[in-house]
Amino acid sequence: MRSHTNIVVAFVLLMATLGLAAKSAGCGKTPTIKSQQYSISVNGKSRQYYMKLPNNYNKDRAYRLVFTWHQLGGSAQKIVNGENINQGGALPYYGLNAIANDSAIFVVPQGLNNGWGNSGGEDVTFFDNLVKTVEADLCVETTLRFSTGFSYGGAMSFALACARPKEIRAIAVLSGSQLSGCSGGNDPIAYYGQHGTKDSVLNVSGGRAIRDRFVKNNGCTAVSEPQPNGGNSVKTVYKNCKPDYPVTWVIHGGDHNPSQVNSGSSTPFAPQNTWEFFTQFEAK
Ligand SMILES: *[C@@H]1O[C@H](CO)[C@@H](O)[C@H](O)[C@H]1NC(C)=O
Ligand SMILES: *[C@@H]1O[C@H](CO)[C@@H](O)[C@H](O)[C@H]1NC(C)=O
Repeated sequence: MRSHTNIVVAFVLLMATLGLAAKSAGCGKTPTIKSQQYSISVNGKSRQYYMKLPNNYNKDRAYRLVFTWHQLGGSAQKIVNGENINQGGALPYYGLNAIANDSAIFVVPQGLNNGWGNSGGEDVTFFDNLVKTVEADLCVETTLRFSTGFSYGGAMSFALACARPKEIRAIAVLSGSQLSGCSGGNDPIAYYGQHGTKDSVLNVSGGRAIRDRFVKNNGCTAVSEPQPNGGNSVKTVYKNCKPDYPVTWVIHGGDHNPSQVNSGSSTPFAPQNTWEFFTQFEAK
């Protein structure tokens, strides 16, 4: 344990001394990646994904990298285009690109059979390959990688939180459950979750269970289960979490829906909540 800590400390000091921060290899390079669809081979399978670069991409600016995973039966294209929010759909890029002020690069992977079964960890490997491919070409702040998704896409973000807690700064799980596995799962990671008490697809107990793994890992103090306030969601920021490892939980009274609104509002609260959660972090 001690020698591990020493190595980490030495590495951090080295980085600080050299002023390397944590910019990806793609920084300073003229990019070849554009905002379009790509394919990559992962374990011998052809996998598809879309990229979305900020307007006026600057090759010397280290951007946030945000992974957005679709729901079961959804698709990467539906994340790119968005779907009718009054019929259970989500806004483009889960509403994040519209409020990111060109500070983020989005990666939109396509699931095999439109889901994230993550058989033998193949979808985590897909993530690993995407990080490598994207960061070799584009300028990313490697301490500011994020992951979000609704339903199966939330389950995939949870699987990454378990398996890649050091590669990702924070995740946001919208109406998720444990469906894509949890390899590892013993390290802390900043965690945002939201769920509806009337969820008829993935019940709220499953959402609470995956949250509680990180309430524990992050060292936060458990609270008695928050309830929605009529037509309004209730946000709980857990206390006493380890520094850099907050947990925020939003409970609402709705069904399985990435675009739940509060009473009297027509704006889904997930995008703003997620973006506030992600942007509390700065480059390390
Ligand atoms: C958007 O980003 C630009 C460039 O980083 C910054 O100058 C501007 O203040 C930002 N605008 C808002 C509304 O945050
Ligand atoms: C929630 O769903 C899980 C998985 O389908 C099931 O095992 C569990 O019994 C459900 N819990 C409640 C309280 O409905």
